[in-house]
Amino acid sequence: MSTLGTPAAYDSLKRELIGSLTGTVLEIGAGKGANLQSLARADRWIGLEPSASRRRALRRKADRFRGTADVLAGRAERLPVEDASVDAVLATIVLCSVRDQERVLAEVVRVLRPGGAFVFFEHVVPPAGTWSNRAARAWAPVSRVVDHGCDPRRRTWEAIERSDLAIDELRWFELPMGFGVRSPYIGGRATKPASAP
Ligand SMILES: C[S@@+](CC[C@H](N)C(=O)[O-])C[C@H]1O[C@@H](n2cnc3c(N)ncnc32)[C@H](O)[C@@H]1O
Repeated sequence: MSTLGTPAAYDSLKRELIGSLTGTVLEIGAGKGANLQSLARADRWIGLEPSASRRRALRRKADRFRGTADVLAGRAERLPVEDASVDAVLATIVLCSVRDQERVLAEVVRVLRPGGAFVFFEHVVPPAGTWSNRAARAWAPVSRVVDHGCDPRRRTWEAIERSDLAIDELRWFELPMGFGVRSPYIGGRATKPASAP
């Protein structure tokens, strides 16, 4: 694991990478639309969200988006979007919750145009042998039920590395969660190579 960045550095990279996205952006697990305000250069935004109550909040936020906005129901394991039809896919704190990371990343590759970007910010498993790791393992069965299926034990960077995406930037951060628990986060950007399926 490389040097861990601070919460301020995490926020700054997040704003920078999301703000750099152009064209049509598909956001998976868009929640209540926290990222919409950072999409300063996108012309079209498609927000996918499985929760009906969150979609209602998302639609209200989407009405204020500067470009075209569509809210879709569905899960990232089966994206209701055409092959090679979007310029970027955005995922923040979602790959911890999906049922099948490998399948989601294959779907991301399918819907991205060649050269398209995948921007991600995700929390991942704390290092083995730490208090934070023990806390994550103890909390996981609860959070799977009460927090949108969130599993804090995931090695998401390995799933991205195994996918057909080419990683351009992968940075590590550590955010304090209280009670002495420190949660590692990854953030970065990957590209769909021209040779990808
Ligand atoms: C922790 S929230 C993050 C929301 C938003 N991305 C953000 O950063 O504020 C996780 C979101 O992922 C959604 N989610 C859970 N499983 C999903 C799946 N299989 N496909 C797409 N979204 C999913 C949840 O409904 C929830 O809105």
